[in-house]
Amino acid sequence: MGRPSEVLATTAAATGAAASKDVLYQEHVNPQWVRLLEVLQMNARYTRCQGTELFTADGRRIVDFLSGYCVHNLGHNHPAIVEALKDELDRRGPAMLQSHVPDLAGELAHKLCRRAGGRVNKVFFCSSGSEGVEAAIKFSRAHTRRTGLLYADGAFHGLTCGALSLMGDPFWRESFGPMLPGTEAVPFGDLEALERKLASKKFAAFIVEPLQGEGGVRVPPAGYLEGVQTLCRRYGTLFVADEVQTGMYRTGRFLAAHHFNLEPDMVILAKALSGGLMPSAALLMSDEVYESVYGSLARAIVHTSTYSENSLAMRAGLAAIEALESEHLGDRALTAGDFLRTRLREALSSYEMVKEIRGMGLLNGIEFQAPRKLALRVPFEAFGQIHPGMFGQVVVMRLFRLGFLTQMCGNNFMVLKVAPPLVVNEREAGEFVNAARDVVEMMHSSGTFWSEALGLARRVLTV
Ligand SMILES: Cc1ncc(COP(=O)(O)O)c(C=O)c1O
Repeated sequence: MGRPSEVLATTAAATGAAASKDVLYQEHVNPQWVRLLEVLQMNARYTRCQGTELFTADGRRIVDFLSGYCVHNLGHNHPAIVEALKDELDRRGPAMLQSHVPDLAGELAHKLCRRAGGRVNKVFFCSSGSEGVEAAIKFSRAHTRRTGLLYADGAFHGLTCGALSLMGDPFWRESFGPMLPGTEAVPFGDLEALERKLASKKFAAFIVEPLQGEGGVRVPPAGYLEGVQTLCRRYGTLFVADEVQTGMYRTGRFLAAHHFNLEPDMVILAKALSGGLMPSAALLMSDEVYESVYGSLARAIVHTSTYSENSLAMRAGLAAIEALESEHLGDRALTAGDFLRTRLREALSSYEMVKEIRGMGLLNGIEFQAPRKLALRVPFEAFGQIHPGMFGQVVVMRLFRLGFLTQMCGNNFMVLKVAPPLVVNEREAGEFVNAARDVVEMMHSSGTFWSEALGLARRVLTV
């Protein structure tokens, strides 16, 4: 999930955004979104999407380095997922009777638990990452009989009320309060702060992304997650891994938790779970947690969701696992990720506004920093004052013009996400590095980058 700049969103009218093709969407869905895309000159009409490539009505080819925020691990419209869905529709089997045992759900749950390993052995299916987080909140409370919930600063867990209560950034919260009581934040990476909170024994769960996605692709410090698990066990708090972005081989392993030999009490999967074509999410949990929620006949349906085990989502999930593994996309994520980070470091590290290139597998970020040179600092600070997201959006716009779809992290405007589908090839990765270098070179040496940014700022201000 990304975050359109709230300032830019208000600028829209200045651009005369409303192309006729968008009229119905503007009228009935979200006109501000259309206008924001127009302001950013990114309102392309996509006609075909395949693998890493997006083709537009005006004949452009854009390479996707965003993957719909880690939905498209398999690339767009992977033939195996398309075929599985067609086949399932042709079969005309039970889709959502709500009064039978959906065997496809059992099959998918079995595969997910086998791959996740450790403690988890039961699955609750739902339709979005946020819904998975909501379930984790309820289930951890039921299991521990505690009400408190801990989360990490910078986290992104979703925008339903419970999930939102586990995200500190005021942008997302403003005007939607009050949040759930009993939710508290700790700094990501700080075990002492975590232990101080856990020692109160009032927290049902610590919900954490192993690698923070929207927080700026923050890689945990060595030993942090292992320490989190130990501390959670010590104080009776459930350790919940939000793998909505990091799961399904995005970081090279089935779960990012596997890089650290973790055995969380619960794991949340979504996004790439169903190959990018069906809404689907899963909360994996231990038998003990399951028992606390559904432990008697009377409670068999105490937490459900209408579309949760629908056969199309389940078929897509099974096909996605099969394709990810038969194409060895975990290994590919590791190799391509190493290649990208190495090449990006070689190309960008000498530039003063590039602070760090980091990530795991194909979840990577380029962090920018304020320039020291006066000639750059003046324009940087000028539009930073207008809106902190302005600088990043100009980077995204420039990359888009060079044929790459990217976005800044939703909770950190200074980090550009580099997260192509896992099927990305070396040529595309190399071309992206060249494009990133051209944009970074331009911001350091050409007035055009900054004057364009100031032009964007002016459009914002004239509304
Ligand atoms: C780590 C993480 N958790 C949860 C969510 C919420 O998922 P959804 O948008 O499917 O509700 C997101 C969405 O971006 C996410 O990145």
